[in-house]
Amino acid sequence: MRKILVIGIGAGNPEHMTVQAIKALNRADVLLIPTKGDEKAFLAEARRDICDRFLENPACRILDYAVPVRRADGSYEDGVNDWHHAIAAIYERTLAVMGEDETLGLLVWGDPMLYDSTLRIVGHVRAAGRVSFETEVIPGITSVQALCAGHGIALNRIGLPVEITTGRRLAEGWPESARDALVMLDGVQAFRTVEDPEAEIWWGAYLGTPHEILLSGRLADMAETIAETRRRAREDHGWIMDTYLIRRPAADTGEDAP
Ligand SMILES: C[S@@+](CC[C@H](N)C(=O)[O-])C[C@H]1O[C@@H](n2cnc3c(N)ncnc32)[C@H](O)[C@@H]1O
Repeated sequence: MRKILVIGIGAGNPEHMTVQAIKALNRADVLLIPTKGDEKAFLAEARRDICDRFLENPACRILDYAVPVRRADGSYEDGVNDWHHAIAAIYERTLAVMGEDETLGLLVWGDPMLYDSTLRIVGHVRAAGRVSFETEVIPGITSVQALCAGHGIALNRIGLPVEITTGRRLAEGWPESARDALVMLDGVQAFRTVEDPEAEIWWGAYLGTPHEILLSGRLADMAETIAETRRRAREDHGWIMDTYLIRRPAADTGEDAP
């Protein structure tokens, strides 16, 4: 039976690769590497570095593929859905020309369970029913872990929830379910919309890479510094990936040292 190995590769440092991930990499007959744009070029390079460093199977075929472009003319949901199906078609075509007992490895940034669509796309290939295969998932170190490790903080306060959300959602308003928000995929610098004078922020960009930047402090004091640092870094590198935790005072005060 063919197999798809969905391998979490960590969030930027090749040493995030776990022993399990390295072993999985070496079980693959084919590895698919997505390429596109400045940010994707870095991500593709990082995947190639991982292969150079950890791949010991000389028979493994590494195939690049151009990530299809997401349509922006219809609704966001339709655009994403079409885009996922276009990638599913690439996975399916790759599997179809592989041997019956061969394994396809997909190297997923961070961990596949966190703001990543690879498992959903693999689900589309399965649902189409034209090629049968097993799936195995290898967990990876997420950017959330890299952020918390970089700042030396715990993600949650004692007994309190954390909302993991996107910049787009945060810009629409503070989440109702938590006083702590972990924000990813923020193209709009949504931290600037949080007006709580007591909020604190722990921000990180290019986590785990040689360009890593960490900034933290009272949000009201740091917001403009972070925005400016972000702008300059983006200009210098041509792309940016950042993640941050914002913590507002807990409703029942007097507790919860981080
Ligand atoms: C599509 S999500 C992928 C998340 C990934 N699956 C994970 O486990 O971290 C991309 C977002 O993750 C965050 N991210 C991923 N890698 C990062 C890094 N090295 N430094 C800062 N943020 C990162 C950013 O918020 C970025 O917009």
